Amino acid sequence: MPDTYVPDDAPRIEIEDIGSNPAPRETIGEVMERRLSRRAALFGLGGAAAAATLTDQLLAAAEPAMAQAAVPMTGGPSSLTFREIPHGMAQRDAVPEGYEIQTVIRWGDAVVPEAPDFDPMAQTPEKQAQQFGYNNDFLDFRPLPQGSQNSDRGLLVVNHEYTDTQLMFPGIGAGRAGRMRATAEQSQTELMAHGLSVVEIRRQTGRWQVVQNSRYNRRITGETEIRISGPAAGHDLLKTAWDPTGNRVLGTLNNCAGGNTPWGTILTAEENFNQYFSGEAARNGAQAESYRRYGIEAQGAYAWSRHIERFDLDKHPNEPNRFGWIVEFDPYDPNSVPVKRTALGRFKHEGATHAINHDGRVVIYSGDDERFDYVYKFVTARPWNPNDRAANRDLLDEGTLYVARFHDDGKMEWLPLVHGQGPLTAANGFHSQADVLINTRRAADLLQPTPMDRPEDVEANPANGRVYVMLTNNSNRTAQQVNASNPRARNVHGHVIEIVPPGAGTSSVDHASTEGRWEIFLMAGKPGFDAGARYHRATSESGWLSCPDNCAFDSKGRLWIATDGAPSAAGVADGIWAADTQGAGRALTKQFYRAPTGAEVCGPCFTPDGRTLFLAIQHPGDDAGSTFEKPSTRWPDFAENMPPRPSVIAIVKRDGGEIGS
Ligand code: FEO
Ligand code: CA
Ligand code: CA
Ligand code: CA
Repeated sequence: MPDTYVPDDAPRIEIEDIGSNPAPRETIGEVMERRLSRRAALFGLGGAAAAATLTDQLLAAAEPAMAQAAVPMTGGPSSLTFREIPHGMAQRDAVPEGYEIQTVIRWGDAVVPEAPDFDPMAQTPEKQAQQFGYNNDFLDFRPLPQGSQNSDRGLLVVNHEYTDTQLMFPGIGAGRAGRMRATAEQSQTELMAHGLSVVEIRRQTGRWQVVQNSRYNRRITGETEIRISGPAAGHDLLKTAWDPTGNRVLGTLNNCAGGNTPWGTILTAEENFNQYFSGEAARNGAQAESYRRYGIEAQGAYAWSRHIERFDLDKHPNEPNRFGWIVEFDPYDPNSVPVKRTALGRFKHEGATHAINHDGRVVIYSGDDERFDYVYKFVTARPWNPNDRAANRDLLDEGTLYVARFHDDGKMEWLPLVHGQGPLTAANGFHSQADVLINTRRAADLLQPTPMDRPEDVEANPANGRVYVMLTNNSNRTAQQVNASNPRARNVHGHVIEIVPPGAGTSSVDHASTEGRWEIFLMAGKPGFDAGARYHRATSESGWLSCPDNCAFDSKGRLWIATDGAPSAAGVADGIWAADTQGAGRALTKQFYRAPTGAEVCGPCFTPDGRTLFLAIQHPGDDAGSTFEKPSTRWPDFAENMPPRPSVIAIVKRDGGEIGS
């Protein structure tokens, strides 16, 4: 989902930008502001620049051990050997010399064996349900055979986050107005273009291709039957006319990023589910307050409520409570029923990535992507069983959900969201753990975590045990609201935070701990131009980035960042930037891939051998005024009658070597 402000009639769906956390906590900000004003007065620094500098100094002063561990951002070149590409904006995408882009699968391509050919002039829900969906986001490559480290054959698992009505159908017209004109059949088609795809892919004679008749190939759509499990399953607030048990739901929606588990299942994250619902109940219904905290409004962003009854809040007020969860499914079993794991909480989950704790418990990190919302982690109650896959089947139903508070001295706490503890009691409207989970945001508010600048991917780096938090931007943060972990007012470019759990860098890293430390890895934006931008000193004219969103680590522990929002925030295309996380090249970002116009880059994912980097290119051609008839690019086909198509690409090195080397 694109990220920055665009005018009302622009085609982008901006629901996720509407901060719905009404009362961000100010305490740290007040402290910072006081210190900042003093420092700014002493050194004549601007607020944001001062904040970035001061954060370093605070950390260094408060925590000598950590200051020592952190390599200063000076000197030394990057370990990455590619020649970076320049900033720009073009109809085509670009990679460095010596690399090649292969298109693996596009919107409309066949997924299940009997899928009909794609004809964008005659799309139907039935066809779409068998074809690759729209707006690919999260990607995972699960090797085949299962349990192997094969890098030439595997399952490509792909999220389809949302639909761009105006680019999918002829005659719709641009922008929000166009989107709201969708017919019943078009709304149904959009519903089928959501969810996920699983396709078997193989690399043969250097080229990645879909195996057309694989038994694994599968579509999960907005109508696939899904089970609800964990503490909130069966709760009254999850019951509907269609499902009086509160135990099953049709479909998964707005699947943004995701992750996987040590036992090989997929976790897919429901993010901006709010935008599909409409109804007066959002203004005056019994659940209006709960809706408000999730950004559910009287008029949503789609025409669905007119055509598909369950999206009408006035008829089915509990339906939205059945979205906003983490969904687990087994891609190796094409008949597996996906499960919404309510123990992991309900919010606008960006993703759900795992780390294995030293004691075998599994920790799932997840950001709530909204301005002034929070970073979470879930810790399983029991260790996972590496010898018995079936024993892990319901591991994610039991455990503790925590929300993060970042202190200005570089320390942090993880606050448990447990019914009966602290303020999470009946006195505050929480009668059970199910209540806490269904209204996770409101429960978290009471614990006073740190309101962040839109947490996107939160992912542990296996090489050093540190956890990287992509904070994409927050142009609404005022100078009064800055704090050490969100140090920039009007933060249009975002930043990256590095969490250091106890024992990070050793074999006993404690991801389950309720304590930790943190520091800022980089402040995005153009150095010397955007206040507070901060990278390695040697970062080049092409190496700065804006609006970090998804990320991945290569086998050397280097961080690969995908951006979403650079066109609006910085006037340049989104893309991929890579940097060392340790050593002399730490935070020296280099531009590796440039997206076609209108697109953001999602889902970076390496094969186990590091020789292929898969990327999901989302909403190509989604520029202001773009329509099916007149898109700003026809990437990737560039055929006259073919609209732009969100697609998964594979980037390989021409000499067959490791990406980035
Ligand atoms: Fe769907 Fe947070 O981007
Ligand atoms: Ca984003
Ligand atoms: Ca996105
Ligand atoms: Ca995202």
